[in-house]
Amino acid sequence: MTDLYQRSIEIILANQHPSGAYIASPNFAPYRYCWIRDGSFLAYAMDLVGEHSSAARYHSWAAKVVNQREEVVRRAIEINGLGKPLAESDILHTRYTLEGKEAEEGWHNFQLDGYGTWLWALGEHRRLSGRSFFKEYVHTIDLVADYLSALWRSPCYDCWEEFPDKIHTYTLAAVCAGLHACSSYGNMDHTDTVQTIRDFIHAHNVAEGHYVKYMGSDEVDASLIGLSVPYRVATVSDALIYKTVDRIETDLRQNGGVHRYPGDTYYGGGEWILLTAWLGWHYAEIGEPERAVPLLKWIEKQADENGNLPEQVPNNLNNRSYLEPWCNRWGNIAQPLLWSHANYLILHTALDQSGP
Ligand code: BGC
Repeated sequence: MTDLYQRSIEIILANQHPSGAYIASPNFAPYRYCWIRDGSFLAYAMDLVGEHSSAARYHSWAAKVVNQREEVVRRAIEINGLGKPLAESDILHTRYTLEGKEAEEGWHNFQLDGYGTWLWALGEHRRLSGRSFFKEYVHTIDLVADYLSALWRSPCYDCWEEFPDKIHTYTLAAVCAGLHACSSYGNMDHTDTVQTIRDFIHAHNVAEGHYVKYMGSDEVDASLIGLSVPYRVATVSDALIYKTVDRIETDLRQNGGVHRYPGDTYYGGGEWILLTAWLGWHYAEIGEPERAVPLLKWIEKQADENGNLPEQVPNNLNNRSYLEPWCNRWGNIAQPLLWSHANYLILHTALDQSGP
């Protein structure tokens, strides 16, 4: 059995491009890009395991990507301020080529969560590495914060790149955490916006005592674990968080891994490694490692003989009839998925730190 902790670090480093970008998955054509969301979690994981140079190279890549698009950011803010709809050319994309260019084929690009997560991960990079920021970060932080402060109320694709006409709780939480983080390390204070977003979430994105997938829904989505860790929209032991996690356990988990949401049909809607790790991360944070360890063990069993973790495993599928059409369209489930490895490392570290 390979040491999945070491192997995960190797896989991530081996798949970091000289530019600093992390490829989402090297063996799955649609994922041969760097996502700001995946990359930010990857950088955080690398900081946790002491690979600060890797994290710094990613942050530097992301900062350049944004800086080269300052005009786009300014245009987005202006058009939005006039109440006009944003075109594809007026927004920051959710993924870029490893060289930092826009992908040629279209994608569900208008997603805000990744940029919030990036601002949060930058703060964690500074905290964990003890390094000061590179020059190019400083300007970019303000740019991204302006972009998010202007656009956070806009419906956009969620972190699964779906439901573009909704206002997603996870997205709001990521934006809120990013603005909160950069208020302590950037040039500007965003405390008022952070409070407004938090109030918005609690006024509109809660039903039956738990957070909901999006405004108007009464379902949960496993990404809501993010409201606990790492975004801390409420304290980890808050009743809303407790009830949300409880619903996730009931609706999205049988006995192994965690599904994304009840109606998910992507590759049949299987059990996601990164979400299973995320649930364990929450349990480790609230001081219940006995609930996190079985999740870690379950993940370790899903790695192949070379220690590659997939995106999801086709167990307890939500809808089996969708598995084959997706395999025919895009090939087998992505493996390795770097974000799965990142979240595994995050869980591993959280458990090490929660030790007796
Ligand atoms: C997922 C996204 C992820 C992307 C790359 C998509 O299928 O829905 O959350 O960022 O893959 O890993």
